[in-house]
Amino acid sequence: MSALALLGGGKMGEALLGGLLDAGYEPDTIAVAEVDGDRRRELEERFKGVRVVPSAAWAVADADVVVVAVKPQVVTSVLEQAAASLAADTLIISIAAGVTIATVEAAAPGRPVVRAMPNTPALVRRAATAIAAGRHADASHLETAERVLGAVGVVVQVPEAHLDAVTGLSGSGPAYVFLLAEALIEAGVLAGLPRSTADTLVRQTLLGSAELLAAGDDPPETLRAAVTSPGGTTAAGLHALEQRGVRAAVLDAVRAATERSRELGDE
Ligand SMILES: NC(=O)c1ccc[n+]([C@@H]2O[C@H](COP(=O)([O-])OP(=O)(O)OC[C@H]3O[C@@H](n4cnc5c(N)ncnc54)[C@H](OP(=O)(O)O)[C@@H]3O)[C@@H](O)[C@H]2O)c1
Repeated sequence: MSALALLGGGKMGEALLGGLLDAGYEPDTIAVAEVDGDRRRELEERFKGVRVVPSAAWAVADADVVVVAVKPQVVTSVLEQAAASLAADTLIISIAAGVTIATVEAAAPGRPVVRAMPNTPALVRRAATAIAAGRHADASHLETAERVLGAVGVVVQVPEAHLDAVTGLSGSGPAYVFLLAEALIEAGVLAGLPRSTADTLVRQTLLGSAELLAAGDDPPETLRAAVTSPGGTTAAGLHALEQRGVRAAVLDAVRAATERSRELGDE
């Protein structure tokens, strides 16, 4: 299996590392660059056999694939430090939010680049990730990126121009769902349930509903209709939601987040 370097051993880096090892990558084929010494020791302890080093340049030597998982502000400088040690055909996969393919290509000239937008459910191997190919990336590079990011969830291919919309939808999406979870728990309390009971019921309702959605090909409206009997309780609840414009609010939320992603990319 090819050698992989992971630049940045933070939250997302660790999630990817765990996913890759579970997916069968051998620990001694992976190198992680992490600047923080305490964090390096933590990663070494948790992921036995993986080489954890302080410098990006050390990590990328011999790597066929480099995953860039540092904060967006340092992507260029980290890649520039590593550039001299990169092989000419090393695939660079960047997960840095808002950092364009052109920026990564400028810091690692001539290398195939794939830009990815994962989301935090990567921490539990349930990420929704979109990937886009750079100028020098071909189908085999996209396939490699799908395999690497597929270790923490589902991967779809999009043109780079769609990544702002992906950021507004699935990148920010978990926060929308957590807000709904908070509101549902409060609603349970308002209706007289103990908070811990409401909390348990809401977590399981969201999980069960997501699993029902994922399990089949039924569109969400079919699943919704199946729990909405004529004149029943769910119909009354849905009426209140529609009256408050919840559907339009969701459309506005994703549109606002998409526009914000575009603005941040322009800055
Ligand atoms: N979290 C998300 O939902 C999400 C979603 C999509 C994309 N992303 C992207 O994923 C990337 C990582 O996010 P994260 O949440 O994992 O952030 P994070 O926890 O802050 O991880 C970044 C890690 O990189 C380390 N680092 C910084 N400079 C370095 C260098 N020169 N060499 C090696 N390591 C270096 C940082 O160390 P220090 O802490 O010491 O600086 C930190 O441990 C970001 O670019 C983010 O935009 C995140």
